[in-house]
Amino acid sequence: MIIGVPKEIKNNENRVALTPAGVAEFKKHGHLVYVQKSAGENSGFSDEAYAKAGAELLPTIEAVYEIAEMIIKVKEPIASEYPLIKKDQLLFTYFHFASSEPLTYAMIEREAVCLAYETVEKSDRSLPLLVPMSEVAGRMAIQEGAKYLEKPMKGKGILLGGVPGVPPAKVVVLGGGIVGTQAAKMAAGFGAQVTILDVSLPRLRYLSDVMPANVTTVMSNHYNVMDAISQADLVIGAVLIPGAKAPHLITRDMLKLMSPGTVLVDVAVDQGGCIETCSPTTHENPTFIIDDIVHYCVANMPGAVPYTSTLALTNATLPYALQLANKGWKKACTENEELKKGLNVANGKILYKGVAEAWNLPFEDVETALKDLVYA
Ligand SMILES: NC(=O)c1ccc[n+]([C@@H]2O[C@H](COP(=O)([O-])OP(=O)(O)OC[C@H]3O[C@@H](n4cnc5c(N)ncnc54)[C@H](O)[C@@H]3O)[C@@H](O)[C@H]2O)c1
Repeated sequence: MIIGVPKEIKNNENRVALTPAGVAEFKKHGHLVYVQKSAGENSGFSDEAYAKAGAELLPTIEAVYEIAEMIIKVKEPIASEYPLIKKDQLLFTYFHFASSEPLTYAMIEREAVCLAYETVEKSDRSLPLLVPMSEVAGRMAIQEGAKYLEKPMKGKGILLGGVPGVPPAKVVVLGGGIVGTQAAKMAAGFGAQVTILDVSLPRLRYLSDVMPANVTTVMSNHYNVMDAISQADLVIGAVLIPGAKAPHLITRDMLKLMSPGTVLVDVAVDQGGCIETCSPTTHENPTFIIDDIVHYCVANMPGAVPYTSTLALTNATLPYALQLANKGWKKACTENEELKKGLNVANGKILYKGVAEAWNLPFEDVETALKDLVYA
């Protein structure tokens, strides 16, 4: 198969969908890989490294879309890319269709085959192509939180781990899923005193087993959240209720429970946030202050560490991308339930219920569509 890797053009997106190591894997399986010049530059991968791994470099994004049967990307195509997409061209990337009506219509109109990273799903309902970014964001939440606890950054002026004779900072983590676990682990590693709250007792049991002694697990309810945040120096918001807006565990009136300079990092801001006073910020301007409390609410935290994020993402996407290239998307999706769940749009039709419902558009069952297409 002919694979194309365009340079990401969405604002502030520095990741790339394939590393030179990934190129070498595709080559090993007999595929051709075309990479747009400087596509990997911001993630630390040079054109020379891609060429050495066996990729052909192309000067423009137009040339990449023109030649490729499968485009591998990171973010959804933006409007200037829509006209470049060809009928039946396979696009493997994050789409998040339910948040963009124009994108949904454009992909239907172009008759592209859209396999969305975010809906590839394992039988235990986990989302293997979202997990790596949660891991990055969870770990990053602590280093950002530690930075904003410094006085010049308007924080309390507390060192996360303390020093001998001075107690460490108190870190509260709301939600003990992927983000929360990674955050708690990092904070504990720094020597902070960590409290992690979740509504799932099995999850708390697991965390209690695997976390070090400076991490305490607590059932999440209003009373316990109030108690924990009133002592906190740093609070990490990491709650998720799949398919729903995050619940506001910290409301505006609860800010007064915390002392001035407390830092809130609401990682869940991309789902509306679990802290009422949070609204999305950017890496250029990551924080704002309400009632003396520092709010950090960057919606694309992994974007700040593109080298790590690119490697983490491609470690997870490459095995699926290889299946798509080796078998073709119809056979790969027919044989692999995880990939099948990733099919959002094909042949001008929506094949993912949530997307059809989001825009009140007709939906075709993916099984039926695949049978029709395979035996067409
Ligand atoms: N800002 C960013 O750059 C960025 C990056 C990656 C992920 N995220 C977001 O971070 C959030 C968390 O993602 P995740 O992968 O850890 O999800 P996850 O599903 O692994 O974990 C969510 C946890 O929240 C718990 N929970 C639900 N209701 C709760 C409540 N009332 N109190 C306490 N805990 C509760 C669940 O039991 C679960 O353990 C998501 O919104 C995700 O989109 C943001």
